[in-house]
Amino acid sequence: MAQLLPSADAVPQKLHEAMRYSCLAPGKRMRPALAMASAVAFGKDADFVVDAGCAIEFVHCFSLIHDDLPAIDNDDLRRGVPTCHVKFGEAVAILAGDGLFALAFDTLANGPWPAEARIRAVASLTKATGSDGLVGGETLDILSEGQEISFETLQIIHRRKTGSLIAASCEIGALLAGATPEQSCRMYEYGAAVGLAFQIADDLLNETSTPEKLGKAAGSDRERGKATYPAMIGLEASRKAAEDAVQHGICCLEGLENTEFLVDIAKYSIHRLY
Ligand code: IPE
Ligand code: IPE
Ligand code: MG
Ligand code: MG
Repeated sequence: MAQLLPSADAVPQKLHEAMRYSCLAPGKRMRPALAMASAVAFGKDADFVVDAGCAIEFVHCFSLIHDDLPAIDNDDLRRGVPTCHVKFGEAVAILAGDGLFALAFDTLANGPWPAEARIRAVASLTKATGSDGLVGGETLDILSEGQEISFETLQIIHRRKTGSLIAASCEIGALLAGATPEQSCRMYEYGAAVGLAFQIADDLLNETSTPEKLGKAAGSDRERGKATYPAMIGLEASRKAAEDAVQHGICCLEGLENTEFLVDIAKYSIHRLY
């Protein structure tokens, strides 16, 4: 990522500094790990898709910068450091997000994979990011604040704002590694289940952990009247829903070889402490 990001010396320096600051802060890199583990499941080395993993992480970092903005979640802390807008101001933060969004597609479209697989990977990342995916999910999340919504709507929010990019990470890793369309679909379904579990775990951690452990706000979902699993069905039922989603994800891997990383990441998605 450090190599793919524009140099902090290049004009406009502030923009590039902000892009590097948010991306290179210590995130978990779960989406790149999933893309790489998915490629391994189809017989490639993890390194084969590392640039695709970076592209996906750039989309993720763009989404975090914008998610933290005053107009959205208004958060001051991310990955244990001040959020991008706190450090660089709101205008540069918005533009740093935009820059990362473009860099993601530049990276994926120009990567070293066969053209047809690359086009399908770009299509997958586009769909996962747009109004049908992350951006639509973020919109529903904001519009649902303080509202009574159905459990079905809550699931849609989680599947879109978080599940879609995690599912695409798995699909893209598989596609670039030469998986068939049917196999890539199955990897997408695995990722969608893990992504749902991951967001339920995020809701649980927001409710039960601390900013020191998380490197980001805690207790904020409740303060803002966010639509979350714990708020709607309670802690125990939320833990069970997350476990069930992980089990479903693992079931999707049946018949594939070299899936131990994928199984481990599925479990990690809910047992993580931050
Ligand atoms: C945070 O994602 C936002 C959600 C989708 C829940 P991560 O928990 O993967 O954040 P980083 O990348 O480790 O900072
Ligand atoms: C997660 O949003 C999804 C995206 C950032 C796209 P949240 O608002 O639930 O995640 P955190 O808790 O700020 O990381
Ligand atoms: Mg949010
Ligand atoms: Mg947030």
